Amino acid sequence: MEKFVIHGGRPLVGEIEISGMKNAALPILMGCVLVKGECIIENLPEIHDVTVSLQILEAMGATVRMLDRNTVAIDASNVRYGTAPLELVNTIRASYYLMGAELGRFGKTHVGYPGGCDFGVRPIDQHLKGFKVLGADAEIVNGYVDAETEDGLVGGHIFFDLVSVGATINVMLAACMAKGMTEIENAAKEPHVVDLANFLNACGADIKGAGTDTIRINGVERLHGCSYAIIPDMIEAGTYMIAAAATRGDLTITNVIPKHLDCVSAKMREMGVTVEEGDEWVRVSHKGELTAANVKTQPYPGYPTDMQPQISILMCLAKGTSTLKESVFDNRFRYIDELLRMGANVKVDGKMATFEGGGLSAARVRAVDLRAGAAMVIAGLAIEGCTEVDNIRLIERGYDHIIEKLQAVGADICRVEIKDVKASAQAE
Ligand code: UD1
Repeated sequence: MEKFVIHGGRPLVGEIEISGMKNAALPILMGCVLVKGECIIENLPEIHDVTVSLQILEAMGATVRMLDRNTVAIDASNVRYGTAPLELVNTIRASYYLMGAELGRFGKTHVGYPGGCDFGVRPIDQHLKGFKVLGADAEIVNGYVDAETEDGLVGGHIFFDLVSVGATINVMLAACMAKGMTEIENAAKEPHVVDLANFLNACGADIKGAGTDTIRINGVERLHGCSYAIIPDMIEAGTYMIAAAATRGDLTITNVIPKHLDCVSAKMREMGVTVEEGDEWVRVSHKGELTAANVKTQPYPGYPTDMQPQISILMCLAKGTSTLKESVFDNRFRYIDELLRMGANVKVDGKMATFEGGGLSAARVRAVDLRAGAAMVIAGLAIEGCTEVDNIRLIERGYDHIIEKLQAVGADICRVEIKDVKASAQAE
């Protein structure tokens, strides 16, 4: 087992290049199951969730060839339905995209219930509701999701009860080769939903309206292989933007789509941070005090829930009272205990956290989930003294070469093997 050891209090200065987006890469990889032919996927991030996804595809019978560190060739012509290994499926959330992909390809699915970060209860009822409209009545039996159609999927009209990234993506996957037209209303508008639609269209699908509330999918006979480059990861970019501000640094973050970060940039400017942007870069610099702010997470284009723990660090460091309202997930404040360990002046009431500012002090903390882990790293970089972050495997699920990228801009951070495993087990 390993931990991060950070000696903080140094401004981050320089340039960080952003990798491909995790939450676009994963549905695109699973989407390859729909395709008879070779897909070349470029700008793939080197992260644990991608490794697991490729292992799942290989176990199902796909041919997976890494062409270089960030490019993979996948030929899923010979995948076998229902063969995704439960022990891998259980470890990541994105494995649930196999439900839509298998349904689209075989008209039936048998996939283990997904894992992923613990944000409270994470039901999949909207996914199943969508499949049902397409003619596949799904049930959950013995830890697996099972669904089957008699004569293949038939397009239909789906109005989601809430905005769900996962359900929107899953129905898009299932509907690509369904007979006739599928219309999804109250669809998620996240950039990764658009990226998946662009990938599927490059494979010959007919999807219109991705990025708006209503997506229309005209079913096609078959999908063919293509070459496709994944968009940059807006959450990775946002994380480094906040790290720049928290350390009073000056970072230029390249290979980004600044539009995707509008909401994060606006909130940071409100807190007194300087954010400049160009075609494919943002520059974040900060000196002096941070101003308190109020943030409420929302589906895109609102403030992303995946950027919620990171901005809490700015709130801890800011002057005055800030509020942070989580409105997407039931329980995304489990990391606040770790902030208390660092001396944060924060109170939680249901889905609202109130920060009084006043700073943080170095401590041994742990990553309770992926983005909360990133927030602990930002805190460690910002404050004087030695911060240790346990449970880093959760951080490495989603951040490509985080240590190397931070070291290159002046961070004193390293990965250290844990000798006192007992103490670490307690931290778990
Ligand atoms: C995805 C992302 C996650 C991000 C989230 C919101 C991946 C692998 N994960 O998660 O990083 O934080 O989008 O941007 O891409 N819900 C239901 N029933 C459903 C589906 C969802 O009640 O059938 C609820 C969820 O519990 C949650 C809300 O809807 O409260 C939004 O969830 P959703 O957008 O589906 O998030 P995920 O796809 O799980």
